[in-house]
Amino acid sequence: MEHEYRLLFNYSMNMSTRTVRNFFGKWKYLMLACCVTYLFVIYIPISKENNSEKMEEVRFQPKDTVEHIPSHLISNNQKQKQKKTFNFNPKKGNPFEVEEVLTYNSIKLAERMKANVKSGEKRVILSYGTGLSAANLGGCPEWNCEFIQDRSRIGEADAILVSHYEPNIKAKSNQYVIYVSQESPANSGINVPHKSFINMTFGFRHDTPAGSPYGYTVKLGPNSRKTGEIVDKSLIAKKTKGAAWYVSHCSTNSRREVFVDRLNKYFEVDKYGSCSDLKCPRKGNCENMLDNDYFFYVAFENSICKDYVTEKLWNQGFQKTIVPLVMKRSLVEPFVPPNSFIAIDDFKSVKEMGEYLHYLMKNQTAYLEYFEWKRDYQVVFLDGQNHDVLEKPWGVCQICRILWEQPKKEYIIEDWDKYWRQSCEADGDLINSIPDVL
Ligand SMILES: *[C@@H]1O[C@H](CO)[C@@H](O)[C@H](O)[C@H]1NC(C)=O
Ligand SMILES: *[C@@H]1O[C@H](CO)[C@@H](O)[C@H](O)[C@H]1NC(C)=O
Repeated sequence: MEHEYRLLFNYSMNMSTRTVRNFFGKWKYLMLACCVTYLFVIYIPISKENNSEKMEEVRFQPKDTVEHIPSHLISNNQKQKQKKTFNFNPKKGNPFEVEEVLTYNSIKLAERMKANVKSGEKRVILSYGTGLSAANLGGCPEWNCEFIQDRSRIGEADAILVSHYEPNIKAKSNQYVIYVSQESPANSGINVPHKSFINMTFGFRHDTPAGSPYGYTVKLGPNSRKTGEIVDKSLIAKKTKGAAWYVSHCSTNSRREVFVDRLNKYFEVDKYGSCSDLKCPRKGNCENMLDNDYFFYVAFENSICKDYVTEKLWNQGFQKTIVPLVMKRSLVEPFVPPNSFIAIDDFKSVKEMGEYLHYLMKNQTAYLEYFEWKRDYQVVFLDGQNHDVLEKPWGVCQICRILWEQPKKEYIIEDWDKYWRQSCEADGDLINSIPDVL
């Protein structure tokens, strides 16, 4: 409504008073009729939309149907629909307006940002040496949750956080047992006394209300969307090198090291770190090289497991002027901006991938298309050090919010082994499915 009002206002301001008077004198009845019709036509669809808007927020919408409609296919009517947005004002960096977070989880941002806190009451979260602390509630101090490490108070706890099997825990049916791990299931796990011991997980998984990913993508609200030049073209014009890879684990479940060796036959990948001769001093220029020298960053994970995406992608991959390379498209696609990365399974062969990367190095227009998302999206990297509004839609703040749910919801992971241990692809499966040449 505000938008329409502003348009009308600007319009009449631009006409001189005399012109308006003459014009109005001649045409007042017609104008009046137009105004009435205008109000009728405009007002009715808007009031209807506002109603449907409220319902939509609680309904589950698979991301593809919501986020990926190209803007030219969206009718003006849909574009004008005002969504509720949130202003994020982080401790570091500029404030920005957020319309939604990208996740396949059905809990929408509006729900994540509000807790049903009862005054004079609190909720208690007990941690069994998980490495988390009261500081992790920094994004939601007003939600009255107390974070404790004192195991003798287990009876008071509404949620119990664990990273290892704790034989002494006998959880009551109204307590949530939450498994905390940021590591891939290929390299972490917990022994459970029975298969539905864990109620939810805290980590990179999105199919849990306490998800705490290494980073996330926001769809920006209208006031934070960008127009004009979004990347520094002169920076891109100066790039000369193919792909950079920073690596410290030389032998992995995903066999990424094997794939990089194969790709190297068709495309130059510079390996930095303990698995090769190229050294990258921690305080040196290494990170700047991603902006200044390289076109691509190898953000391959050590294992291919459900939702397992780490700082390789969220930090180096998206916080620099570079295009990240990932292993499996379907694994990252639900969480990242549209057209923002290249996956190895986009190609029929390793050779084809190498040729495409060469092509992008030569065609700046095509390369720049991988940055178009920056107009409407922003990627947030959660470094685990700053506890502010950026963490509010995730992790400990979401555990706190859940503890206030009324009525209390039951969350159960029915079969732990299936959920955790069986969530990874067999070693080397993906890279073995792509031949060097056709
Ligand atoms: C460069 O990329 C643009 C955008 O994708 C494309 O339209 C154009 O045909 C490409 N040019 C060449 C020479 O391939
Ligand atoms: C946690 O899981 C257990 C075992 O499945 C279940 O009995 C309990 O009700 C769950 N707790 C909550 C608060 O949902």
